[in-house]
Amino acid sequence: MATSVRSFAKINLGLKIGPLREDGFHELRTVYQTIALSDTVRVDVGKGVGIEIACKDSRVPTEETNTCWRVADRILRSLKVRGKIRIAIEKRLPVQGGVGAASSNAVATMIALEKELKQQLAPEERLRIASEVGSDLPLFLVGGTVLGTGRGEQVYPLEDLPSFHCVIATPAVGVSTPAAFADWDKKWAAKLTDPKLTAKDGSDRINTFSRTIYEWLSGSFTPTGVPSKGWDRAEALLLDLVRTGIENDFESVVFPKYPAIREVKRALERSGAKYVSLSGSGSTVYGLFADQESAAKAAEKLTASGVPAQATVTLPRERYWKEIWGKTG
Ligand code: C5P
Repeated sequence: MATSVRSFAKINLGLKIGPLREDGFHELRTVYQTIALSDTVRVDVGKGVGIEIACKDSRVPTEETNTCWRVADRILRSLKVRGKIRIAIEKRLPVQGGVGAASSNAVATMIALEKELKQQLAPEERLRIASEVGSDLPLFLVGGTVLGTGRGEQVYPLEDLPSFHCVIATPAVGVSTPAAFADWDKKWAAKLTDPKLTAKDGSDRINTFSRTIYEWLSGSFTPTGVPSKGWDRAEALLLDLVRTGIENDFESVVFPKYPAIREVKRALERSGAKYVSLSGSGSTVYGLFADQESAAKAAEKLTASGVPAQATVTLPRERYWKEIWGKTG
């Protein structure tokens, strides 16, 4: 019997890009939030050796470049075990859409493979393997509302935000993450002649992020310091999110290059979303809504206009871990 794990997606609630580091990555700050849309990953261990990936979606690589393959390979080495690993990925999430699908698939593989092998990696080994395979993997070892620092791989669980209604819209435009980072660097280089200033300015921008996040989330506490509960809190947080001006830096380089993505943001705003943003480097744009009905209507309208869109909810940590093992499909 294979082990099935639901592999949930994420969105980014704000993303600030900092200086380019010596290792070729950019320092960044973001708040990740898991959402209730998922792929399914099935892992089965048999006799023999090797790692096989099966996926009906031809855009998903089935060899060593697949993040699931890379995680499985590292786990076998770390636990010093042999076996024939078969990984089947059932795709529903956008491929390369900025919602972390490939990263989430890899973490789902890790969780399922541990169960199949009846062995667990030490927590720090899990984190090491996840961050080695990609900057967006570790967040899926936490789930819910997660602060991401470093190159995005250093993760800290934040107090969970209440569940928001949201719409995920993915225009059929392929945005390359490394190219988007390179465009960001070009944009800053054109503005600043002294390269040292780029780094300094980048650090300042990074510091702004913690201030705005603090300003946003501190509004969710009552004077007694106890978070208020329920939908009122969710609505207040949504309004504060707009007020504090939390943004995704990638928008300033991705929108001019792909105006169709900016159009999707505008369409979501027109449909009554309280907060709309690009997720990661795109092409997914998400909108947060105050109620389920307007979210469903917005998704319908976008889909009818040719932009694949789905209404869903954000997924707090406890539900994330419970539903990972839930019914798939
Ligand atoms: O870690 P991940 O595989 O997602 O990164 C893909 C590419 O995106 C990196 O090779 C790098 O070019 C770019 N990147 C970056 N800064 C980050 C994360 C990714 O420049 N913080």
